[in-house]
Amino acid sequence: MKMSLDVRFSPPPSISCLEITPGILHHLELAQKLRPLASRFVLITTDPIAHVYGYALQARLQQQGLTVHLMTFPDGEHFKTRAIKEQLEDQLLDKGWGRDTCILALGGGVVTDLAGYLAATYCRGLPLVVFPTSLVAMIDACIGGKTGVNVPQGKNMIGALHLPKHIIIDPTLLQTLPTLELKHGIVEMIKHGCVASLEHFIYLEQHSKEILQLQSKIISEAIFQSCSIKKNIVEQDPTEQGLRRILNFGHTVGHALETLSHYTLPHGQAVAWGMLVESDLAVAMGHLCSATKQRIQALLHTYAISLSLPQDISVDRLLDAMILDKKSRQGRPRFVILQELGKAVSFSETYCIEVPETLLRSVLHQCMQTKGPNIV
Ligand SMILES: NC(=O)c1ccc[n+]([C@@H]2O[C@H](COP(=O)([O-])OP(=O)(O)OC[C@H]3O[C@@H](n4cnc5c(N)ncnc54)[C@H](O)[C@@H]3O)[C@@H](O)[C@H]2O)c1
Ligand SMILES: [Zn+2]
Repeated sequence: MKMSLDVRFSPPPSISCLEITPGILHHLELAQKLRPLASRFVLITTDPIAHVYGYALQARLQQQGLTVHLMTFPDGEHFKTRAIKEQLEDQLLDKGWGRDTCILALGGGVVTDLAGYLAATYCRGLPLVVFPTSLVAMIDACIGGKTGVNVPQGKNMIGALHLPKHIIIDPTLLQTLPTLELKHGIVEMIKHGCVASLEHFIYLEQHSKEILQLQSKIISEAIFQSCSIKKNIVEQDPTEQGLRRILNFGHTVGHALETLSHYTLPHGQAVAWGMLVESDLAVAMGHLCSATKQRIQALLHTYAISLSLPQDISVDRLLDAMILDKKSRQGRPRFVILQELGKAVSFSETYCIEVPETLLRSVLHQCMQTKGPNIV
């Protein structure tokens, strides 16, 4: 007799519970929200964020009767490693804390990725609550459940999918975020508008001044729109078989620029340049009208994001670096191609395509004409 058991699970929603409330870190209800999740809490953050927000949050939650242990690690992408994760795990093991523990991740994408990965694996999975503090973390890193660390062979090569129980966004935290970091988040927001929502793109066009000034209502709305766009895309394609690839618009060229700069070039700036080159590609292929490309360029300019590509990089080296992109097939890079604002070309639902090398070379040569900085 054949016996079978269906052990498949339907894809989980990418957001369990997302809340955007200015000042929420100071609200008393926060402790009530957390209390049912575990009997003790580990707040993970970086050293500088601990001083600005971490110790105060720990003290506030403790005043509300929660047991909260705070663990920090040094700031920066260099510390998003297995070694740091192991050090934090050892601290928890030494305390004898087990399954009845909840991880609270407070920080930018580095913290949410690393603490999220720790939550995914410690005791085979602990509840996770994310408090993103950078714009990139608010609208990108904390949505979709991807967690992980870097290894010398590549970024985010080791990790797991682990969804937070709550994502708690306090836009007032952005007041201490350096302007350059804010702009990197804005680039990803513009990307969301380009590939999935004309309305979001227009919102970013119409409210640039208020967004840059972090006007509470406007920035909260922009964050909400951007989170919703990513959530909808991730829910439709949780394992990145097709549609989710549109989130990689600008990233084939962007990642190649980052690699060639030995990661000295910030991701947001590299993606901004990548979006311009890949828009030019879409125009050259006849999918996008050049006025739309100009509109994307104008929006990046409005947010004072540099538009001129680096000059010290050859087209050959850029092409070589693009082959390493995860969307490449048989050594040929593939690109997300825009059709109009809010829509990428489907290409039979693969949402990316190879581009003939001659066309790619000619577009890259053309883009390099605009004089920019040296990055190598
Ligand atoms: N999991 C995902 O789906 C996903 C998506 C996008 C990015 N990421 C990851 O996120 C990371 C990038 O995130 P990031 O740009 O937030 O980098 P980050 O975490 O390094 O933060 C950038 C800098 O801003 C500082 N900072 C953050 N919030 C602050 C605040 N409120 N006030 C003052 N300073 C603040 C940080 O200390 C840091 O120096 C990368 O590791 C990337 O791989 C993950
Ligand atoms: Zn990105």
